[in-house]
Amino acid sequence: MNTKPFGIGMVGTGRISDLHAIEYLQNPHARIVALCDRDVELARRRASKWRVDDARITDDIDELLADPEVDLVEILLPHHLHLSAAEKAIAAEKIVSLQKPMCVSIEEADRLVAAAELSERPFKVFENFVFFPPVIRAKQLIDEGAVGRPLAIRLKSNKGSNRTAWEVPGPTRAWRQERGSAGGGPLVFDDGHHKFALAWHFMGIAEEVHAFVGKTTYPDGSYVDAPSIISFRFPGNRVGSLELVDSPELEVITRHYAQDDKVEITGTKGVLWINVGHGRLGDPAPVALYRDGTVTTYHDMATGWEESFVLSTRHYLDVLRNGGAPVLTAAEGRRVLRFALAAEESARTGRTVRVTAD
Ligand SMILES: NC(=O)c1ccc[n+]([C@@H]2O[C@H](COP(=O)([O-])OP(=O)(O)OC[C@H]3O[C@@H](n4cnc5c(N)ncnc54)[C@H](O)[C@@H]3O)[C@@H](O)[C@H]2O)c1
Repeated sequence: MNTKPFGIGMVGTGRISDLHAIEYLQNPHARIVALCDRDVELARRRASKWRVDDARITDDIDELLADPEVDLVEILLPHHLHLSAAEKAIAAEKIVSLQKPMCVSIEEADRLVAAAELSERPFKVFENFVFFPPVIRAKQLIDEGAVGRPLAIRLKSNKGSNRTAWEVPGPTRAWRQERGSAGGGPLVFDDGHHKFALAWHFMGIAEEVHAFVGKTTYPDGSYVDAPSIISFRFPGNRVGSLELVDSPELEVITRHYAQDDKVEITGTKGVLWINVGHGRLGDPAPVALYRDGTVTTYHDMATGWEESFVLSTRHYLDVLRNGGAPVLTAAEGRRVLRFALAAEESARTGRTVRVTAD
């Protein structure tokens, strides 16, 4: 078993890096040793905020990868840079955790899956929603048979007002508006990854996807790909849907993104709801179950969205020390990406897209 803390090098110290840092700063098996961002002042500010003043600061990924103190590279870059950064990090014999979506096309994903499989180190596609405590509780209940056999999943994501939300800097928003850097739309492809991951987590791989993707444009020229609705069919006569709505004046209670996320899973004998996500509307029970005429609510769990990052990172460190598979593996990340790409393809062509397992 590895006893020396893993030296962590972060590539990209933008908005989301704050939530990745939490567990690396508190876990005795990790130590942040290097930060890389093309905005080197931003990397310095993060180092100072996280009190890792002795970390190497650079704007050059090659310099970070050449540092023998760096064991694990956390890649937090715009999507079009994921493939090249991950390939370089694998070639430099580093452990790699790559933020979702793993890349922007199936051809890129195939390259990464092949590189990850050749590597001797467990490669993680960082998907945090499956580690969100209400999702963990819901999965436990479903696996125990609480709703019977799951027949349908309904996901709803409602973007709202961000008066209570954290600040999202202009550059963080800007690259998401461009297909060349984002790979797809901000709600269907980017944030949608989490929802497709949840659909996969609870129901398995969809075999058919059909989508209507709308567009709402703002006076500043920016857009969101909503209202949108995506439906899926799973093997075994089961279905699902994802509805994306933009309600600019809807106040969402949040410390992060102003977005309400809900999941409903209907089975042969019960219905289960997850009522919180990035944010929440009011003070709902995080998880609720209807069964045999009675609603049971579940409150005894953390609901801060940052907890999903903490638990996802902790799980990875446990896998690295004790063995097992990261969540997601490269192959799983590819499946979720395929799901998101199928939605965009269906909206473009107006046709149902068949998704083969591999
Ligand atoms: N899991 C989640 O819930 C979640 C939430 C937000 C973002 N993300 C993901 O995290 C990643 C980063 O998103 P973000 O919101 O932090 O974006 P961001 O724009 O705030 O951060 C990206 C950083 O990369 C830096 N950068 C760009 N090109 C570079 C290069 N060539 N070399 C070094 N640094 C470079 C930028 O200066 C910026 O600081 C994306 O993959 C995104 O999808 C995930």
